[in-house]
Amino acid sequence: MNGRRKLVRLLVLVGLVAATGALAWTLSNARQGYEPRQPISFRHTRMPGAPDWQVTDAGEVVNAGGYDIPCVYCHTMPYKGRHSTVPSTAVCMNCHQSVGLGKEWVLRMQEYWERGQPIPWVKVHDLPDFVYYDHSAHLNARDASGALKLAEHDAEGRPMVACQHCHGDVAAMEIVSVQNPFNMQWCLDCHRKPEMDGGTDCVVCHR
Ligand code: HEC
Ligand code: HEC
Ligand code: HEC
Ligand code: HEC
Ligand code: HEC
Repeated sequence: MNGRRKLVRLLVLVGLVAATGALAWTLSNARQGYEPRQPISFRHTRMPGAPDWQVTDAGEVVNAGGYDIPCVYCHTMPYKGRHSTVPSTAVCMNCHQSVGLGKEWVLRMQEYWERGQPIPWVKVHDLPDFVYYDHSAHLNARDASGALKLAEHDAEGRPMVACQHCHGDVAAMEIVSVQNPFNMQWCLDCHRKPEMDGGTDCVVCHR
């Protein structure tokens, strides 16, 4: 691309981004802490969450916690493509054709399934369309030594899913909520860290 076209493109971009950005900002200001109610009260604590075996009064041993289901069993896309996906009803039915039969929430899931409809999950995180974001670029990024930039352990060295750098400890959430600002400053603060080196040119995220 020659210099003049590049400049024109950049000016148009800045104009567009400023206009849509101002609108998007007004519409989506309630970002961090956003915690929409979902059509089925799906609890991450019960799925990827850690098991919590308890003995009932009747002496029965039951799991009141989760089943350690890996994030990527349901959110398969992050390592492969730009977008993560919320699982289709078919993924839920893999288990719920035999687990929890007759329970109110499984019956509701089955209704959607039989109608061939997706469960209308409410989107929790939603960047404006003029921002380019790619899960796989983040989850696959490695430093010169070959180590993952978004490490799979916390500051004390305890294992942790890489998702936690941005989404917090989802496995411990009854209702998923937005844990970080998810605005430009937040992206840049991490990108500027020397060990991350994520890029700060406008076109990295506005293309
Ligand atoms: C059994 C399937 C399942 C597993 C396992 C699972 N999730 Fe989810 N996840 C869902 C469903 C269904 C939703 C949509 C409903 C909701 O937001 O609670 C969701 C929503 C989310 C969202 C919000 C999506 C949005 O709209 O912005 C994030 C972030 C998320 N999950 C992260 C994780 C992480 C991190 C893990 C692993 C610790 C994980 N999930 C494990 C099923 C699953
Ligand atoms: C790998 C197997 C598996 C998959 C996949 C799975 N579940 Fe579950 N689910 C379970 C088990 C096991 C339980 C606990 C059963 C019980 O409490 O009787 C459960 C319980 C639940 C509960 C009630 C738990 C509570 O007390 O909050 C809901 C709601 C639920 N699942 C929704 C879903 C949805 C929606 C999906 C798809 C996004 C899904 N499940 C996918 C195994 C699975
Ligand atoms: C570097 C920060 C970061 C990491 C790490 C990260 N996410 Fe996200 N995630 C985002 C952003 C930003 C969005 C909003 C994307 C949009 O609206 O275009 C998002 C959105 C989502 C969504 C909603 C669907 C979508 O793509 O818009 C799901 C589900 C999700 N993430 C799951 C995960 C899981 C599971 C992991 C770990 C395997 C993970 N994320 C790791 C930043 C991150
Ligand atoms: C926790 C740190 C962190 C946060 C937060 C973060 N990023 Fe990144 N970002 C990275 C790293 C690491 C890379 C990869 C650098 C490399 O290629 O080695 C990256 C790369 C990128 C790339 C380049 C991808 C490609 O295909 O070349 C884009 C675009 C991007 N980030 C957008 C965003 C946006 C938008 C946000 C905020 C919503 C964000 N990032 C938040 C760490 C982060
Ligand atoms: C690391 C990713 C990233 C980079 C690099 C980046 N932006 Fe952004 N930008 C974002 C995100 C994310 C938003 C959306 C913020 C929101 O919705 O709160 C945004 C929003 C904007 C907006 C709308 C107003 C606002 O603040 O919400 C403008 C204007 C903008 N960017 C211009 C730029 C310019 C000019 C550059 C280069 C100097 C740049 N951006 C570099 C991620 C980035």
